[in-house]
Amino acid sequence: MKAILFCLCAFSFVCCEAVYKRWLLDTNFENPQNWNVKRAPCGNDVVILPDDSPVVYMQMNTTIKELVLPSTGELILGNSVSLGFTASPSSGCPDAKGDVEFTAVHPGPWMNPKDWCATSTERGTCDKSPRLEVENVPCRYDDVIFPRNRAYFVDLSELDSNTTVKSLKLIGSSLTTASFASFVNSSDGQRMFRRGKTAGPVLQISRQACDDQGGCACGNDRPEITKKICAYVNKNCARPRCSNSILPTGMCCRSCGASLKITKGYGFVLDEFKSILKKEFFNDTVSSKSDSQVG
Ligand SMILES: *[C@@H]1O[C@H](CO)[C@@H](O)[C@H](O)[C@H]1NC(C)=O
Ligand SMILES: *[C@@H]1O[C@H](CO)[C@@H](O)[C@H](O)[C@H]1NC(C)=O
Ligand SMILES: *[C@@H]1O[C@H](CO)[C@@H](O)[C@H](O)[C@H]1NC(C)=O
Ligand SMILES: *[C@@H]1O[C@H](CO)[C@@H](O)[C@H](O)[C@H]1NC(C)=O
Repeated sequence: MKAILFCLCAFSFVCCEAVYKRWLLDTNFENPQNWNVKRAPCGNDVVILPDDSPVVYMQMNTTIKELVLPSTGELILGNSVSLGFTASPSSGCPDAKGDVEFTAVHPGPWMNPKDWCATSTERGTCDKSPRLEVENVPCRYDDVIFPRNRAYFVDLSELDSNTTVKSLKLIGSSLTTASFASFVNSSDGQRMFRRGKTAGPVLQISRQACDDQGGCACGNDRPEITKKICAYVNKNCARPRCSNSILPTGMCCRSCGASLKITKGYGFVLDEFKSILKKEFFNDTVSSKSDSQVG
């Protein structure tokens, strides 16, 4: 079973079905992960947004004792959000035993597969089925989503001039190569995106879907990109429990099993090939329903 799975994965070029890649991190006030105490500020807290804070978006009502703002920075209050201040401790808020400090001050790397979730619809739940590690990062034909009502801090410095996606939607707006480049260059954009030193656009937004029924390559299997992506994964690789482990293209960790490399010829239809494999090896007769399990 496992061997077949890898062979499919290594061949999991997308065709014709939209794959959304949604950014999972945010720099929101209400996100417990963004604070040293691993909870959102409340009650008697003295709350500190340090000087290197990115844009912070607030989508919760809370009451705190004190808020220390950075000398330059931005705190965006969402719709009908109220932030109250009180000197008298309220019940229901654990004692922080010190200041409550915003800690999400480092940009999340675009190239880290953990920072993305793949979904079949813009707001759908994350698809956890097996996927090559390099394909967890947006591919050439993917739609990239940064959802509304959040702020972000993203490290784009590892992208090169060939990094391409099909579309990018940032907080509800669809951007083009030029409009994204100019946003990243603006003062607001610089607080949300860290670009590298290279000149020119940071990311190519092609608006081009894959129209080859034989499938289209993700693009992240370029060795220089795989190397960057795998740098985030490699330290968590489990040691394979076999003597002859394999490292299929697009994976970061060695594993046990077999992989099959295929060169596609004229008239090859990826979806047909997938359903044949499923029928013959997975004993699966309801192929169309469970397609995403394999891709
Ligand atoms: C905050 O309070 C306002 C008014 O009390 C309410 O309309 C709003 O829904 C609340 N927002 C949240 C995120 O709870
Ligand atoms: C981009 O792709 C072209 C053609 O494949 C290649 O010659 C060039 O070196 C690539 N640039 C970078 C920065 O990888
Ligand atoms: C970025 O900003 C600099 C100056 O702030 C400007 O010279 C440059 O043309 C801008 N680039 C883009 C792509 O907007
Ligand atoms: C496939 O499924 C059928 C019935 O569902 C079963 O009889 C058969 O043994 C299975 N074959 C394999 C290879 O699992």
